[in-house]
Amino acid sequence: MIYFDNSATTPMLKEVIQTIQKVQEHYIGNPSSLHDLGVQARQLLEKAREQIANLLHVTTESIYFTSGGTESNNAAILGTAFEKRGKHVITTQIEHPSVTKTMHFLEKMGYTVTYLPVNAQGIVSIEALKAAIHSDTILVSVMWVNNEVGSIQPIQAIAEVLQEYPHIHFHVDAVQAVDDVLKQGIPKRVDLLSLSAHKYHGPRATGILYKKEGRRIQPLLHGGGQEKGLRSGTEHVGNNVAMAKALRLYREKQQQDVTHVDKLSQRLRAFLKTFESVHVLSPDNATHHIVTFALSGVRGEVMVHALEKEKIYISTTSACSSKINKAHHTLSAMNIPTELSTCAVRVSFSYYNTLEELQHFEKVFTALYAQFSKIMK
Ligand SMILES: Cc1ncc(COP(=O)(O)O)c(C=O)c1O
Repeated sequence: MIYFDNSATTPMLKEVIQTIQKVQEHYIGNPSSLHDLGVQARQLLEKAREQIANLLHVTTESIYFTSGGTESNNAAILGTAFEKRGKHVITTQIEHPSVTKTMHFLEKMGYTVTYLPVNAQGIVSIEALKAAIHSDTILVSVMWVNNEVGSIQPIQAIAEVLQEYPHIHFHVDAVQAVDDVLKQGIPKRVDLLSLSAHKYHGPRATGILYKKEGRRIQPLLHGGGQEKGLRSGTEHVGNNVAMAKALRLYREKQQQDVTHVDKLSQRLRAFLKTFESVHVLSPDNATHHIVTFALSGVRGEVMVHALEKEKIYISTTSACSSKINKAHHTLSAMNIPTELSTCAVRVSFSYYNTLEELQHFEKVFTALYAQFSKIMK
């Protein structure tokens, strides 16, 4: 089996599964309980928070545990809207649905949302951002790496623009950018940042919201006051400890051969370019782990199922849109014609994929291309 769908989710590492089992078995207390079982669970949870903070080079106090990227994005966006007075928010046309749909909700609540367009490379213009900011703007929310094509947004340049507007919250959906976050750190001007453990071989339904100390947002979940009142609900100690471990292991794997994923994607791009009817849709300077392409005339889902028969797993451009069967919004924002966007498929690598796996993919794809070419003639 070859798993090239790491942007949808990554398989949990054995060590990470073992950590969850161990914590579930041996740390039975509620981390809010006063007795020693509670204290032990609390200490373990806080150690995980500290470990994550150290890996991200931020303060322990700025790390909040959530149920994943979707919750972190909702908490950052709605939490800002409920905290601040202004009624204008800026985002892009290519965000993940957990941002876009939250923005639609804000519109229903009377907010105005500017959706910045992107160019043919899937990148927003800084000039368009500058033009969109006005006195009522409370939030700019821009993803770091796009999940459909892997385009990388100019987070540092946006941060520089926002230096002049200290009252505006800057949120970054970094769910597909864990690689960059670990390499570059979180830019200082970023106030809120979302991460999700299942994108780096950690547990599902477990995530991080980074909130810069001193920045205020309103909680979405009210109750027992956990997570400093920002996110009530008894914490999943096992998953959070495993999420910290997964981040440390990911960092170690990345450091062993920092160009490994880059090499795989360069090779795949070069391979795909040898086929006349194949169009690589990911921009040249996209993130390394995502290569989106289309074989014209062959719908994305047909390609996904043809590869699945050979036990090779990829996806149409996002796991969420693949079931809804609607036009891929990033590709249409990039002005990719519908005939091609409906044929788009996404290969997404992890540091655990091997050159041998890619070589096998190449063999299978070459055979499929020959088969499809006969049908298309
Ligand atoms: C860019 C981006 N943001 C947010 C999410 C949602 O994360 P989660 O699945 O942890 O809710 C995803 C998931 O694919 C994503 O790719």
